[in-house]
Amino acid sequence: MNHILVINSSVSGNASVSRLLVGDIVQRLIDINPQVHLTYRDVGQDPIPHLTTFTVAGVRAIAETEEELETRTLSDQLIAELHAADLIVIGAPMYNFSIPSALRTWFDHVLRPRVTFAYGPSGAEGLLKAKRAIVVESRGGLYSEGPSRAIDFQEPYLKQLLGFIGIADVSFIRAEKIGSGPDGRAAAVASALEQSERTIASLAQVQTITLAKREGE
Ligand SMILES: Cc1cc2nc3c(=O)[nH]c(=O)nc-3n(C[C@H](O)[C@H](O)[C@H](O)COP(=O)(O)O)c2cc1C
Repeated sequence: MNHILVINSSVSGNASVSRLLVGDIVQRLIDINPQVHLTYRDVGQDPIPHLTTFTVAGVRAIAETEEELETRTLSDQLIAELHAADLIVIGAPMYNFSIPSALRTWFDHVLRPRVTFAYGPSGAEGLLKAKRAIVVESRGGLYSEGPSRAIDFQEPYLKQLLGFIGIADVSFIRAEKIGSGPDGRAAAVASALEQSERTIASLAQVQTITLAKREGE
């Protein structure tokens, strides 16, 4: 992994569990490759404007007005950040059974027809290639099993959004039951740290195998 785009979207500042876990993942990746290039986007602290009647054409149609052109420029910049990265690390807390509106707004700017996705004879095609994502999901409750599984609109939605633009290789790190007191929170963080360790170890292994294959060619 040579270039990582790091996106945080929690509104909880330094108290954020997802931000803590994203920071740990980034540190593990730096340990593997100290030369790694990092680009940060914190849409929780520095939000991207929602699309409006006056700006939507900047992403979905032909930009003409000053506001539409400004939106087009921002969308271009966010998509350029995606193109430059080979790995995207996303901190995505569960808000109201789904993702923070700030993160959804980021997706509204990067899901762009004919730029990151297109419709061809066999349907929709994601136009981003050879990228992986690691998504940290922090949640007050338990959604990976039990009765609330059916109301998890966070993980399936993120999988769909990322897959739609061509990022199908996604690892999810879950920190669940954050809302069940300090012990519950500590257990959730410890479990998520273990998941991250395993995920990064398998990524490092894949990278070593790929490099060895290239050298052998
Ligand atoms: C606006 C808001 C909505 C939330 N909605 C849910 C929810 O639907 N389900 C849930 O399990 N937790 C919910 N939570 C709790 C968060 O998912 C939990 O606190 C998590 O740790 C947030 O991630 P963070 O610490 O990175 O901000 C919500 C929290 C906030 C602030």
